[in-house]
Amino acid sequence: MTTKAPASSVASSGTVDHSTDDHWSSQKYVKNASFVPVLGAPVLQLLNAQPHEHILDLGSGDGILTLELEKQCKTVVAIDSSKAMIDAAIENGCHDARVVDGHDLVAHEVANGQFDAVFSNAALHWMKQDPERVIQGVHKSLKPDGRFVGEMGGYMNVAEVRTGLHAALKKRGHNPEAYDPWFFPGPKTYRRMLEANGFRVESIELIPRLTELSTDIAGWIDTFGFAFLKPFEGDDEEKKAIMDEVQGNLQFSKDESVWSIMYVRLRFKAIKILESNA
Ligand SMILES: C[S@@+](CC[C@H](N)C(=O)[O-])C[C@H]1O[C@@H](n2cnc3c(N)ncnc32)[C@H](O)[C@@H]1O
Repeated sequence: MTTKAPASSVASSGTVDHSTDDHWSSQKYVKNASFVPVLGAPVLQLLNAQPHEHILDLGSGDGILTLELEKQCKTVVAIDSSKAMIDAAIENGCHDARVVDGHDLVAHEVANGQFDAVFSNAALHWMKQDPERVIQGVHKSLKPDGRFVGEMGGYMNVAEVRTGLHAALKKRGHNPEAYDPWFFPGPKTYRRMLEANGFRVESIELIPRLTELSTDIAGWIDTFGFAFLKPFEGDDEEKKAIMDEVQGNLQFSKDESVWSIMYVRLRFKAIKILESNA
């Protein structure tokens, strides 16, 4: 079954261009990735937020899902490492949105053991530098028995585009591993990390999801694959050549003028059981 990415079912963040050095652009996100928060609905369901609860949204982006959460519980704190995204979240109406890197959460005042749940959609796979440190920050943020519910890119996520980008960089003499920003674990790996850091895993599964894009492959790379283009900073022609090359090799994945990518999500629910060593 193909999951259709709705083209315009989320609010726009207006006309302000939030593009910054951090490479996340809320405008590109709305244009090319509006399906991300829309397809986050099942994760919200798994979270099952209650009206009295305090919830932390980790990697909130421009706050579209945060606003949904705000309707369901008492308070939501949205955190994201991108100032552009947090500016957009505030502009979109989020009540408490702050620039915090997930890796720094463990030593941050936000991690104060007051949250009933930590929620995260489509963000944890970007926290590649030290995923266990991120989990430790989540653990510190939660009350005893608090829940950590999330969905992230899992094993073999977007493999066709990722392979194309690796090949394009290798061809140009660059080591793609050095630029690949993603951590796409399988359920065994992430379960082990959760259990090693004070969580009991209630459920964890890989969910393959063929996803129709609201853009083409080049637009997708421009929005999400920017890290691979870093060696070509200032050389827009070469960047375009890479995007065209990867898209050209994926011509087969276009059907009736619509582009699709095979997403594989890792969806989980875990409960805080002990104090971690973090
Ligand atoms: C694909 S967006 C998902 C946003 C939102 N959760 C949604 O469902 O629409 C990924 C988000 O992760 C954020 N992110 C990436 N690395 C991060 C980090 N180290 N700490 C916190 N947020 C991070 C990005 O800035 C971006 O807003």
